[in-house]
Amino acid sequence: MQIIESASGLLSETQRYRRAGKTIGLVPTMGYLHQGHLSLVEYLRPKVDILITSIFVNPTQFGPSEDLDSYPRDATGDLNKLRAAGVDIAFTPELADMYPERGEVTVTPPTLATRLCGASRPTHFAGVCTVVLKLFGLSNCTDAIFGEKDYQQLQVLRAMNRQFFLGINIHGGPIVREPTGLAMSSRNAYLSARERELALCLNRALREAQQLFEGSRKRKEHLSVERLRTHVLSGLPLSEVGVALDYLDIVDPTTLEPAETLNADTRVILALHVGKTRLIDNAALID
Ligand code: PAJ
Repeated sequence: MQIIESASGLLSETQRYRRAGKTIGLVPTMGYLHQGHLSLVEYLRPKVDILITSIFVNPTQFGPSEDLDSYPRDATGDLNKLRAAGVDIAFTPELADMYPERGEVTVTPPTLATRLCGASRPTHFAGVCTVVLKLFGLSNCTDAIFGEKDYQQLQVLRAMNRQFFLGINIHGGPIVREPTGLAMSSRNAYLSARERELALCLNRALREAQQLFEGSRKRKEHLSVERLRTHVLSGLPLSEVGVALDYLDIVDPTTLEPAETLNADTRVILALHVGKTRLIDNAALID
């Protein structure tokens, strides 16, 4: 595995591969890799000639009071995992490589980025779109993959790809969970034992939504969006100390607008603070 730190180094290498007619896959990450990240690598590995994983904790997607400084890091462990997974190039740039100039061009994200996570993190998706557009340029990728764990991010980046005519094949990877059902996340490292226990409520809420939907379908009963939402909400431990709801929404899977009717693809999506950690999760009504 080649480790490339400089942006110009990656650009010239990937231009060479593209001129030689190779397909290039990109898996962007912020490191502290777990099986959720590695599942994306495993998914894309057989589909492309050259596989690149980037590790870059992107400051522009963190709000001023967020966890940029304490974001977990494990450079050596990450590189070992990527090597074992058969990655060709690990791209590990410094801040100045990714943001070399002052007053740079930034991407204004689409309207669908203003809802859900965008409502409580107003600058987040601008930072994500900007850094991902830079990574697309540097990697010359034909394919890129993002996890459904960050479902809104996936849809925002699909919109950017479509609206800017980038022509990249964007793949979505299913959510990888711990045996307990907790969606894997680098931020799970922040959770105490009690918080880990409380955090199981996100996945539980999604399963309850699926069960209620499934049951109504079997009994051929009408289930309204509002009733489903109220049911899921009442199952969340919001009276526990340290647990606070950011949002719980039932949305169209592409536009992320509130759903008007329910079907198998309708997405239940939520964000919850558990102690100091903000956790997100989502699922289709039938998965
Ligand atoms: P990060 O949180 O490191 O996640 C990198 C990729 O791994 C994202 O596409 C994310 O959706 C995916 N991922 C994380 N946990 C997952 C899980 N449990 N199952 C499946 N996929 C999972 O998302 C980012 O970094 C950044 O915003 C980035 C796109 C790299 C831009 O900076």
